Amino acid sequence: MAKTKAGNLDFDTQLRKKAQFVNYILQKLLTEQTGISDDLKEALWYTLTGPGKRIRSMLVLWCCELVSGRVCGNAEIAAAAIEMVHTYSLVHDDLPAMDNDDIRRGRPTCHKTYGEATAILTGDALLTLAFDILAKQIDKPTVAVRLIGELAKAAGPAGMISGQMADLKAENSRAGEQLLEYIHTNKTAKIFRCAAAMGAICGGAKKREFNCLCEYGLKLGLGFQIADDILDVCASSEQLGKTAGKDAKAGKVTYPAVIGLEKSKQLAQNLADEAVAALKPFGKKARILKQLAIAMLKRNN
Ligand code: IPE
Ligand code: IPE
Ligand code: MG
Ligand code: MG
Ligand code: MG
Repeated sequence: MAKTKAGNLDFDTQLRKKAQFVNYILQKLLTEQTGISDDLKEALWYTLTGPGKRIRSMLVLWCCELVSGRVCGNAEIAAAAIEMVHTYSLVHDDLPAMDNDDIRRGRPTCHKTYGEATAILTGDALLTLAFDILAKQIDKPTVAVRLIGELAKAAGPAGMISGQMADLKAENSRAGEQLLEYIHTNKTAKIFRCAAAMGAICGGAKKREFNCLCEYGLKLGLGFQIADDILDVCASSEQLGKTAGKDAKAGKVTYPAVIGLEKSKQLAQNLADEAVAALKPFGKKARILKQLAIAMLKRNN
C-alpha cells in the first residue's frame, strides 16, 4: 500500500484545507459549464457553493491518497460528482413535500430563495451534472464506468431513494430498530460507502483494499447519520446552519427517538470503532481516515 502525504498538519487544518480544495474544484467545474441558463446557473451556484462540510468529497480524496499516495485528477472529478449528488439530495430533502426546511448551510433553502419549481430543477441539474462530468472528465473509460456504476447504485432506487422513501413513510409511526437501520443505511451510509469506493477506484485499489474502504465508508456513514440525529436534539440551529429540533416535531424515526440519546451516542461510538477497525490492514497510513471517524462523533455541525 502506498505512502500517504499526511504531513505534519493537525487534523483540523487538514480538514479545512481539503474542504477549501473541494470548494475550488467545484467552483472551477461550475465556471467551465456552458449552455446553462443564467437563472439556473445562479441557483446551482447558490446551492453548490454554500458552506457544506464536504465530508463525502474528502473521503474520495483521502481514500485515493491512501491507496495510491496522491490525489489524481480522476479523484478530483469523483469528489465533485459526489458533492453534486449530495447537494441535490439536500435541495430535494428540504422541499415542502419532503422535510419542509427553511434553512440549509446557514442560508435560506433553495426553494425559499428561488421557488419550488427552480429548486426541483436545480436538484435535477446537480444530479445529472454529476454523471456528465464523470462521463466526460475521467481519463479512462473503464474507471469512468465503474465510478458511474457505484454512484448510480448508491444514489439510486436501491440506495438513497429507497432510504428517503422509507424515511418519509415512517414519519409518526412506531418503527423499530430494524427499519431505522434500513433507513439510515440507505439514505446516508451507502453514499459514504460510495465515496470511499470511488476514491479507492481512482487510486487503483486492489480488491482487498477496496473492500476494507467500503466497509469503513458504510460504518462511518451510519455513524454520521446517527450523529446527525443526535445533533438535531442537542445542537442549536445556529451551530447546525439548519433548523434544530425538527425531527421530533416532524415525527421522524431517529435513533434518539427509538433507542434514546445515550444508547445512540454509544452506538455511534461503536460504529466509529468498527470503521477504524476496517482500516487495520492499512496500518499507520490510514491515520487521517481514523481521525475522521473520531471527529465525526465530536462534531457540532
Ligand atoms: C446532511 O449532510 C444530510 C445528512 C445525510 C445527515 P451533511 O451534514 O454532510 O451536510 P453538509 O454538506 O455539511 O451541509
Ligand atoms: C437527509 O437526512 C438524507 C439525505 C438528504 C439523503 P436528514 O433529513 O436527516 O438531513 P438533514 O437533517 O435535513 O440535513
Ligand atoms: Mg430527510
Ligand atoms: Mg432533512
Ligand atoms: Mg437530520
